[in-house]
Amino acid sequence: MHTTSFRLLFSLAWLSAVLPACMPQTLDQKTPVATPKMAQRSNQPLGTLQRGRSLYIAHCGRCHEHQIPASVSSADWHIVAPGMAWNAGLNQSDERAVLSYLLAATSD
Ligand code: HEC
Repeated sequence: MHTTSFRLLFSLAWLSAVLPACMPQTLDQKTPVATPKMAQRSNQPLGTLQRGRSLYIAHCGRCHEHQIPASVSSADWHIVAPGMAWNAGLNQSDERAVLSYLLAATSD
C-alpha cells in the first residue's frame, strides 16, 4: 500500500513540474483582476485599480513581458514604476493608477 501512495506522490510532483511549462500563463493570470478585496486592503477606489490594470495591460507589455505584480515587492514597485511610467509615456495620474494597481496586486 505504501507503493501506491508513493506512486501518486511521484506523479503529482512530475505533473506540477511539467504542466506549467506546457501551459504558459495567460495575460489574465499574470495581471489579476482588481477586486473589491484588493481595493479595501489597499485603501484605493476599485475604479482606480481597474483603470490602473487596463493601463498596465495596454502599456507595460510593449517592451517586455508583463511582470506578475506579486513577483515584485512593494518597495521595488515604488522604485521601478516611475521610470517605467516614463518609458510608457504615462501622465502622472495614469502613473499613480498603475502603481496603485500594482501595489494592490502585490501581496506584501
Ligand atoms: C519603452 C520600453 C518599456 C516600456 C513601455 C516599459 N518598460 Fe519596463 N523595462 C524596460 C527595460 C529596457 C527594462 C530593463 C532595464 C531596466 O531595468 O531599466 C525594463 C524592466 C522592467 C522591470 C524590471 C526592473 C528590474 O530592475 O528588474 C519591471 C518590473 C518593469 N520593467 C515594469 C514595467 C511597467 C510597470 C511598465 C508600465 C508602466 C513598463 N515596465 C513599461 C522597458 C520598458
